[in-house]
Amino acid sequence: MIHKPVIHLVAAARPNFMKVAPLYHELIRQDWCKPLLVHTGQHYDENMSENILRDLGLPEPDIHLGIGSGTHAEQTAGVMIAYEKVCLQEPPAFVVVVGDVNATMAVAITAKKLLLPLAHLEAGLRSRDRSMPEEINRIVTDNLSDLLWTPSPDADDNLLAEGIPQEYILRVGNIMIDSYEMLRDKIEAEPVMGALKLSPRSYAVVTLHRPANVDQQETLRPLCDALRQIALQLPLVFPVHPRTRKQLQAFNLWDSLNAEINIHLLEPVSYIPFMALVQQARLVITDSGGIQEETTYLDIPCLTVRTTTERPITITQGTNRLVTTTELKGQVEKALSGQWVHGVRPELWDGRTAARVADSLRKTLGV
Ligand code: UD1
Repeated sequence: MIHKPVIHLVAAARPNFMKVAPLYHELIRQDWCKPLLVHTGQHYDENMSENILRDLGLPEPDIHLGIGSGTHAEQTAGVMIAYEKVCLQEPPAFVVVVGDVNATMAVAITAKKLLLPLAHLEAGLRSRDRSMPEEINRIVTDNLSDLLWTPSPDADDNLLAEGIPQEYILRVGNIMIDSYEMLRDKIEAEPVMGALKLSPRSYAVVTLHRPANVDQQETLRPLCDALRQIALQLPLVFPVHPRTRKQLQAFNLWDSLNAEINIHLLEPVSYIPFMALVQQARLVITDSGGIQEETTYLDIPCLTVRTTTERPITITQGTNRLVTTTELKGQVEKALSGQWVHGVRPELWDGRTAARVADSLRKTLGV
């Protein structure tokens, strides 16, 4: 009997699952390898993990490392120790990591120290802000990877500028768009807005979780003030990330925000209801990475409360703009008055990225 090569697809946190799912399904369909889903456990709440896996049609993880929350060093080290044991027991033919969370870097280091071939999906993104933990994770992971699958030309340029050989780099497009297209029918049929008594294009979606915005009272309080001002004009639907909830409560900001009739604070929502909310929104206020891309794809104004983005193509070609807390209300008014750009969908953001990635993997393995 011929054994199929085992491919580890590593996922850790919420934004990873939408990147792994299309590839998992494509590899199962192609049937030349055995993809194993490795969950490191960084996100563990039902709505941050299990329900998203279910929405995306992913099975129970084949390998669960069970590393939960902790400091950066604790999370990174925990994943490295646990993943090394897995690989020593049964080394995979290829390790695929996605995105830029702590586990992405931890697994990359572990795999390469064991001389295992490593691929990074969503390679080459750079914010040039090394105070973001994700930037450190991206730089380390890209520098260790044997195969770098990029979503956009800027990512190719970043990698080449860092001395990564051209032959390691392959532009494949944006795999998150594959997840959206894979589930578009279900997203369009999702009745989430009815439950909130909202009609299409009559509300904004808000997501905030970056430490730079939520971890200090001096930044989070003015942000809440701005949201209250905006809610006088436009209802806000705000699924609250666990980090943000903790900080809102610690700074005594939760009750006043929750008391606003036009601000709907929700538990984190799973992938299908979340995308249903986004695709019918008038605009989105966020500090997420992936939502900058999804709004560009859906041609929805995106106001990103950050000073930098690792996804500049969402500005140069899409509907994304970086705003400060002070500018937020004015920019919302601009969007409401129709003065917002209509973007174009970047090249290869077409729902066929997983097929390109699977083909590249197969070619590299010579199967
Ligand atoms: C992580 C990623 C970030 C990504 C985000 C998406 C890193 C460095 N950061 O940030 O890039 O944008 O995920 O959500 O990897 N918590 C829960 N339940 C959970 C998960 C977390 O309550 O299921 C709470 C814990 O108190 C935890 C805190 O949220 O300490 C932060 O979680 P963590 O995974 O460390 O970072 P995120 O802010 O989620």
